[in-house]
Amino acid sequence: MTEHAPISLSQFLIEEQRAKGQINADLRRLIKVVASACKRISIAVSKGALGGVLGNLGTTNVQGEAQKKLDVLSNEILLQANEWGGHLAAIASEEMDDPHPIPHRYPKGEYLLVFDPLDGSSNIDVNVSVGTIFSVLRCPDGVVEPDESAFLQRGVEQVAAGYAVYGPSTQLVLTLGDGVNVFTLDREQGSFTLTERNTKIPEETSEFAINMSNQRHWEAPMQRYVSELVAGKTGPRERDFNMRWVASMVADVHRILTRGGIFMYPVDEKCRAAGGRLRLMYEANPMALIVEQAGGAATNGLGRILEIQPQKLHQRVPVILGSRREVERVTAYHQD
Ligand code: AHG
Ligand code: MN
Ligand code: MN
Repeated sequence: MTEHAPISLSQFLIEEQRAKGQINADLRRLIKVVASACKRISIAVSKGALGGVLGNLGTTNVQGEAQKKLDVLSNEILLQANEWGGHLAAIASEEMDDPHPIPHRYPKGEYLLVFDPLDGSSNIDVNVSVGTIFSVLRCPDGVVEPDESAFLQRGVEQVAAGYAVYGPSTQLVLTLGDGVNVFTLDREQGSFTLTERNTKIPEETSEFAINMSNQRHWEAPMQRYVSELVAGKTGPRERDFNMRWVASMVADVHRILTRGGIFMYPVDEKCRAAGGRLRLMYEANPMALIVEQAGGAATNGLGRILEIQPQKLHQRVPVILGSRREVERVTAYHQD
């Protein structure tokens, strides 16, 4: 075997288990099953107009959002893949009102799986990157039929988190709570291959991501921060900043993980009643764990996202994450 033999996701997980002992066989199986479900979603997404999967389904989810055919298909792929393996106690999804119990015909395991089956789904019909976000929690001791309350754990309790981004290539970004590793789908082999070990977000950045059309609705600290960025070289920051907004959180976070930046979806007048735009359990927590494990920071403007005690499954929160120094600055403006 050559020195550069590619490392598959399976090999990586076995070696992590051996080296660090923080994962067991069930967690390893869980990650592999989620990864293979992501592979299936990637195939469905890439068929595009030929697969008859574009467009709306004509239904709305518990969030009050129109469901795309691919939202529901991706949800089903993840459910079917994960139900039977014996590694899960229950599943919760952005696309389902209530937690999905493991059918009685299958054995139950010690983990809870939470996901946003298709993130950025408004981008599907225009052929722009979308993704899947997931988070793994432990089922509380003694709970046999986990309901919503079993899932209401702080982000710091996550055992693992990750996302798949379906872009020009499909990549899987994974943390088991000890750094972040990036895998790329080898379409010929049909397997994920490790392409970046222990990735780190650059501390300094000159790139920001925010939906500027909401500017008039933001609170004062966010107005201040973004106006200082936009003022560029002649403003208080004394340098120019660049802006990017894909409107798929997965794609925006992936860019930040790759080359640095700050991502913000603050609370504004439009989403104040809901608490924010993005979902704590399906989006904010898994991304916050990944970003922190890559050396970045993630807050809701006041404190660490990972320390928020969830009150309900579909709770929404303001999100500020990415390069540490910038996140700290925005957070300090909020605390002023
Ligand atoms: P989803 O497609 O899972 O509902 O998530 C979309 C989210 C997130 O991916 C993105 O950052 C944000 O919504 C975009 O919101 P705007 O359309 O308000 O920019
Ligand atoms: Mn989403
Ligand atoms: Mn979604």
